[in-house]
Parts: sequence; C-alpha cells; structure tokens
Amino acid sequence: MRVLVVGGGGREHALCWALARSATVFCAPGNPGTAMLGTNIPLDPMDGEAVAAAVAKHRIDLTVVGPEAPLAAGLADHLAASGHRVFGPSREATRLESSKAYAKQAMEQAGVPTAASRTFTDREAALSYIRHHPEPLVVKASGLAAGKGAIVCTEKRSAEAAAREMFGGRFGDAGRVVVVEEYLEGEELSVLVLTDGEAVMVLPPSQDHKRLGEGDQGPNTGGMGAYSPVSLADTTLMARVLREIVHPILEHQRSVGAPYRGVLYAGIMVDDAGNPKVLEFNCRFGDPEAQVVLPVCQVDLAEHFWRIAASESWQPTSAADTGGHVAVTTVLAAPGYPSQPVKGAAISLPSPERLLPDTILFHAGTSHDASGVLRTAGGRVVCATGLGPSVEAAAIRSRELADAVGFEGKVFRRDIAWREVARAGAT
Ligand code: AMP
Ligand code: GLY
Repeated sequence: MRVLVVGGGGREHALCWALARSATVFCAPGNPGTAMLGTNIPLDPMDGEAVAAAVAKHRIDLTVVGPEAPLAAGLADHLAASGHRVFGPSREATRLESSKAYAKQAMEQAGVPTAASRTFTDREAALSYIRHHPEPLVVKASGLAAGKGAIVCTEKRSAEAAAREMFGGRFGDAGRVVVVEEYLEGEELSVLVLTDGEAVMVLPPSQDHKRLGEGDQGPNTGGMGAYSPVSLADTTLMARVLREIVHPILEHQRSVGAPYRGVLYAGIMVDDAGNPKVLEFNCRFGDPEAQVVLPVCQVDLAEHFWRIAASESWQPTSAADTGGHVAVTTVLAAPGYPSQPVKGAAISLPSPERLLPDTILFHAGTSHDASGVLRTAGGRVVCATGLGPSVEAAAIRSRELADAVGFEGKVFRRDIAWREVARAGAT
C-alpha cells in the first residue's frame, strides 16, 4: 500500500513511522525526519488541487490527513469526490473542532458532559456576561487558532481583555465568535478513537502537558510533552468516556447527516471524583500525543485506516493493550516559544549508531539549509520519545535523548509524566 501523510510536524513524523511498518510512505510536505522513512513531496497542505495531483502522480492508495486546517477546508471531501480513499473527516464533521460554538451546541444536544458556556457574536454582550459570572473563566475563540485560542483567566479583567482582543481581530475570523465557559478543575486526558462513524476502536489513552514550564506553570502551548498509557484512565473511566461522550457525539453526527469518520480526539477534564467532561474535540491525532500513542499501539494502523477510509467491513480490534510498553515524549522547543520562537539555530543530533536504545527522535520544526545543515524551523523543534516497561524508565529514556540533542537556547521540561510517576510511586 502506498500511503500519503499530509502535514509536516512531529505528529506526521509519528504517523509515517507507524505506517512505514506495513506501507510505503510519502509525506507532504514532510520534514527531514519523514524523509528518512519515505518520500517527501513539497506542497502546501491547504492546496487541495496540489494534493490531488500528488495522489495521482505517485499512485497513492490512501491519504491520511494530519492537521486540522486542511480538513476544515474540505480536503477529505475534495479527495473523496474523485474516488480516492482518505482517512480524515469531512469538512462538515470537522466542525466539531473548527467551530467551538458548534461543538458546544452539539454536546448540549447530545447530552455530553462539558463546561457550562455561552456563545457570543457581540462584544458588549460577552463583556456583560463576564462581569456577571464568577472567575476563573475560560475565553475561547470559536474558530481554529492553532491551539492558542483558549485563554484561562483567573481575573475578570483578563477575561474582559481576552474577549476584547478576540472581537478586535487578534485571531482573525476565528475570533468573530467567542465562547466563554466555566473553568474546570482536574486532570486532563486525551482519548483518541478510530471510527467509521459508528464503531469505535479506542487507542491507548494519553496525557499532554500544555503549560510551558515544569510543574505545569507558565503559558499554554501546543503541548510540551506527553505519555501513554495513563493509569487514571482505568476501565471504569474509559467505559464512561465511551458511553457518555464518544458514542453520543457520534450518534449526534449521524443524526445531523455529518457522520464522523477518522480519528476523533476528545480532550477531557477528569475531576477529583473521577467524572469526565469534554474540554474540546479535535478531528485529528494530537501533537505530541501521536508521538507516544502510536509507538505503544500494537495494531496495524495502515490496515485500519484503509478499511475505515474504504467503508469496507471494518472490524475494530482492541487497541488499548500496549503490550506492557509505556512511552514518554519530551518536546524540545525553540527559545521564545510559544509567543516568538527564534528559528534558524543549527541542530546537533546523536548519530544513528549512538542513538540510545528504546528511543525515537521525531522531527517537528526542522529543516535543512542550502548547505545541508539541520536547523530549527518552528516553535516545537523535535520530540524525544522514550519507551520502557514502566513510566519511570520511559521518562528517563526520553530525558536522556532530550539531553543528547543540541541547539542554542533549547527549551524543554524535565518533568513530563510527573503525575504518572507519582501514581506509580504511590502504589
Ligand atoms: P482547548 O483549545 O479548548 O482545548 O483549550 C486548550 C487548553 O486550555 C486545554 O487543554 C486546557 O488546558 C485549557 N482549558 C480549556 N478549557 C478549559 C476549561 N473549561 N477549564 C479549564 N481549563 C481549560
Ligand atoms: N496536544 C494538543 C493538540 O494536539 O491539540
């Protein structure tokens, strides 16, 4: 099978890595990491015609779309219309991510637990609501904002400022509609399922670390590290997530004529009493969650993606079993990330023969310059994944690899998976 992965970040490198076990891999545009696994095709993922032309030229059997923006622009519909097999939801189904206002409404109609919220198209109405509701509040641009559109505000003043900025155009069109919601306390969990719109296959649960600094301090980022599996997500909790969240939302999508097909990512807050509530839905793999979920996943993903894309007698198997493996990934970011990452620094990597065992280095924002030197080219530069029989062992591997990568001003957390390490120590 010839598979094209659309995108060029750490998640796409992880997808190529997983798919290359059983397929010939192409990546568009890809990065220096994906180039080691297959063929990179330079193109803009937002250019549907260019992707369709690449599919034809390289005789691609299946296209897997990594990021949300091309899906929200209708890439899956575009490719499917010409009879091509594509793993990723339609533009309409992608609204679960591309419009938080739509997602909130869908959750309300489907009875899915989530934070109480109100949606505003008018600045003054939003400001008045904020003034009359207790802080902390979370102010969100409804549209796609590359993971930066949710602002947790402990003071009314900052919530008002966030709403003003959004209506003032800080996130462009994405901020024309603003959702203000109740702040939820608890522990975050990322649950990813593969689905053909009806049946589901649950992938090993994972936990992201959104804050820039150790101890979960500092600004929100796209994610500074992750681990999988997560013991908090025991069978009881996962059964509730499926019963109360995943199945009702899939049923809702079927009922509105926009069945959801692809990978559905439920970002969940689990409160102290163990109750799950949805923070957001994403219509794609998480980044950096993919860099831990895919390495511990024991199933042939190419086969499952193919059958789901083909609507062909898909039999979900149990994918929750990780075979006793734990993965931890540490993101190495450029100095200045997330607000103003400084790019262009030369990167030194451990040579392949000196690469530590049980580690995988996923490229994210890297590129080769004209003289072939590998340089930083994005906010999140590389992801250092460590594998082991325990979370402690995997975390040590991940940190060792993170230490072995060099570039000026590299920023990373040394405490990824700290909650799981504490849980493991307590038992
Ligand atoms: P979102 O884009 O909606 O997933 O939000 C990004 C991040 O903001 C989440 O992963 C949480 O860390 C935080 N967040 C979003 N909504 C809430 C909420 N209602 N309560 C607490 N934290 C939240
Ligand atoms: N790591 C969070 C996301 O992919 O949205």
